[in-house]
Amino acid sequence: MPEGTGIIAVLIVELAALGFGASAAGQDARAPLRELAKKRGVLIGAAVGGRLLARDPDYAAVVAREFNVVTPENDFKWGPLSRERGKYDFTIADALVAFAAKHGIAVHGHTLVWHSQLPKWIEEGTFTREEMLAILREHITAVAGHFRGRVAMWDVVNEAFEDAALRQNLWNKGIGPDYVEQGFGIAHEVDPKARLLYNDYGAENVNPKSDAIYAFLKDAVQRGVPIHGIGFQAHVVPGEIDVASFKRNLRRFGELGLEIYVTELDVRLKDPPTDADLKRQADTYREILDACLAEPAFKAFQTWGFTDRRSWIPGHYKGMGSALIFDADYRPKGAYRALHECLERAAAK
Ligand code: G3I
Repeated sequence: MPEGTGIIAVLIVELAALGFGASAAGQDARAPLRELAKKRGVLIGAAVGGRLLARDPDYAAVVAREFNVVTPENDFKWGPLSRERGKYDFTIADALVAFAAKHGIAVHGHTLVWHSQLPKWIEEGTFTREEMLAILREHITAVAGHFRGRVAMWDVVNEAFEDAALRQNLWNKGIGPDYVEQGFGIAHEVDPKARLLYNDYGAENVNPKSDAIYAFLKDAVQRGVPIHGIGFQAHVVPGEIDVASFKRNLRRFGELGLEIYVTELDVRLKDPPTDADLKRQADTYREILDACLAEPAFKAFQTWGFTDRRSWIPGHYKGMGSALIFDADYRPKGAYRALHECLERAAAK
């Protein structure tokens, strides 16, 4: 970035965050989503990148203006934080947390225990059960300890189920199924105030996978494992979520005493999308948020990214994209307006 433009970029972000500067990306005359969400007592946000917040003023301006919770898309994961055992580089992660604190945005930590994006020494190592438990404890203590008081909720364990069974990942193979509750127990010891979530995909409807997760969490909660909430990732196509089934599913987890979070919503479309596709997408966003707002245990609604310029979808699903609520030029899409209308109605009640 040329000399001197940095301060201009910061000013743009600050002015946009205050609702000034019609030129700020995605600026919309209406109240930002975060204002409506706050009136309703819930959080709305997105997964973000620490480097993008620092380098792209338009990106940062939308985040500062619209959201009251953010999830680091990759910056808090084991591999990006630590390549060598016991050595952590929190530079990017701390900058993301500082941005969030500056703009009154909560941080949703993601994720302490997962089978992906691990450092090579773990993926390629051979360890006894005791050694793996020690490695897990060291990591959770280092990371949840570093962010203690700065992270409102953690995805403690991510994607432990594969279909209707506990995934045979290296943690399950190395420690056994109790690695899940061990992870939650350590995280609660390290940060007793953080809300601790189990996070997974493909469990939004009542189905064999959500049945298995329900049984697992019901048992864990009844045994006093410190699990406070469940995250439904909701990486979907239009129509994939059956609203009646989704509502029943939210209710049964809510009845366990668990808080409800939509953690990674994106609604992917075949690119380039037609107007009809974008209308169906907007309807999908609306019906998911409406279902959440009807659930007493609902806490937060987050998308996985927020602009079609920065989404994991095209690289993962060939020919698909346009999954988010702002277009590639940070302009609000029909999906944004659908969420806005939904929150306006809820805030007015
Ligand atoms: O940072 C490196 C870069 O240095 C390197 O040059 C580049 C090419 O190899 O890779 C970069 O790392 C990539 C990373 O994203 C950051 O961009 C990894 O290869 C890539 O695998 C990683 O993908 C992430 C994926 O999780 C990993 O499984 C996606 O961005 C991220 O959106 C996605 O997020 C997951 C959630 O954590 C869990 N739920 C599902 C969701 C989508 O898969």
